[in-house]
Amino acid sequence: MAEDLVSVNPARPGEVVASFPTTDEAGIDAAVERVRVAQHAWSAVPVPARAEAIAACGAALAAHKGDLARLVSREVGKVLVEAAGDVQEAIDMAAFVAGLGRAPWGETVPCEMPDKLAFTTRHPVGIVATITPWNFPVAIPSWKVFPALLAGNGVVIKPSEHAPACCETFVELCTASGIPRELVQVVHGGGEAGALLTRHRAVRAVSFTGSVPTGRKVAAAAMECGPKLVSLELGGKNAMIVLDDADLDLVVDGAVFGAFGTSGQRCTSTSRLVVQRGVHDGVVDRVVHRARSLVLGDPTVATTDVGPVIDRRALDRIDAMVRAAVDEGASIVAGGEPVAVTGCEGGSFYAPTVLVGVERHHRIAREEVFGPVLAVMPVDDFEEAVDTVNDSRYGLSAAIYTRDVNAAMRATQRLDTGIVYVNAPTIGAEIQLPFGGTKHTGNGYREAGRRGVEQFSETKTVYVDYSGRLQRAQIDNRPPV
Ligand code: UN1
Repeated sequence: MAEDLVSVNPARPGEVVASFPTTDEAGIDAAVERVRVAQHAWSAVPVPARAEAIAACGAALAAHKGDLARLVSREVGKVLVEAAGDVQEAIDMAAFVAGLGRAPWGETVPCEMPDKLAFTTRHPVGIVATITPWNFPVAIPSWKVFPALLAGNGVVIKPSEHAPACCETFVELCTASGIPRELVQVVHGGGEAGALLTRHRAVRAVSFTGSVPTGRKVAAAAMECGPKLVSLELGGKNAMIVLDDADLDLVVDGAVFGAFGTSGQRCTSTSRLVVQRGVHDGVVDRVVHRARSLVLGDPTVATTDVGPVIDRRALDRIDAMVRAAVDEGASIVAGGEPVAVTGCEGGSFYAPTVLVGVERHHRIAREEVFGPVLAVMPVDDFEEAVDTVNDSRYGLSAAIYTRDVNAAMRATQRLDTGIVYVNAPTIGAEIQLPFGGTKHTGNGYREAGRRGVEQFSETKTVYVDYSGRLQRAQIDNRPPV
């Protein structure tokens, strides 16, 4: 008998939030089979009707926003306002995807021959497997499930072991409001369940958000038993550039929210602050002051600014990375240690941390921390700032703060990331725009936005020749050699 998967409150790990049976191989086969049957019927439903069912999911999520946000807060430790933002992102996604149900589904393209028409359309891939992380336990499932459903697919979703209840509740709300119950199945487990699902012969597309090492394994497994469509959304080492002419009030607000929001546990979190020397000391002083004044505590309490990190292992990893940074020559000017919070016994809290004197080759400047740690790196000018940001194997999100519109526009061209912000922090993407990154951050797909459906559908190109004769493209209308 497989062991149950138990999620706990990261602020008080003694408190169990939910428990679900781990899904074994037979369970995964059964889930895939249920989806296969349901998807057959769903693929015949007109796209606008699919869209209406997705809109109903959005309404259900909105009606339960408060309860769901509290669950997010308890299960993954997000402060309530951010937990509500997580749910809101799923509500927004439902509205956006529902709208796409009445938007163009392809393009018509002129043909080189008379009396001939060409167009493209989209077809479902069939069964989509999604593997989702705990840090956006409602939003990220929605990024994958809604576009996959709109495209006519069925979905098997394996959420993170840290956030099973958020995913179950999300799926329950969807299937209670118009999505056929069998069409979206949740399976639980760790890497083994993920591998079984990824390898499953009936699964045609795999959409994964998580770490680079796991992403590589997912892609390899999907190809071994494929080929399958694989979309990967992996890490980030996001940076904010501050030029001498920036509005420093904006900079401080942006850096603090970007680095310490969600306890630094977003793929998009600001983890490098690349500051021009003229304002370096002033910016550091102000960010340090704010970092020290943030209130750590129970994330479900409205006065808390920063909640726990996900678990003890994450806490130890973050602390080890900060120690290693100091060994390499950086200095801690705020935080730099775990914190005990009264009323949150055993909770994994890490003090918002600012490190100065960080150099490009330091591990802390290169590796994703996924915790509330900001590495400050001084630079001489715009060129060095851009080079420093681009000196990373990741390319998710970057920001530049400046009042110089020319510098800002040049940065949008030169920064090698999938997302660039001007005078706004590296976090806070909106779902109607593509989300994803360059280099090791992904494999070229973009989630959300109009392109979000691409990873879950096959494009079909259709040529209709109504001339009544054979017309040979590239030949008939051209002189022979
Ligand atoms: C993530 O951390 O994986 O842009 C997603 C943001 C959020 C999504 C983050 N809207 O910060």
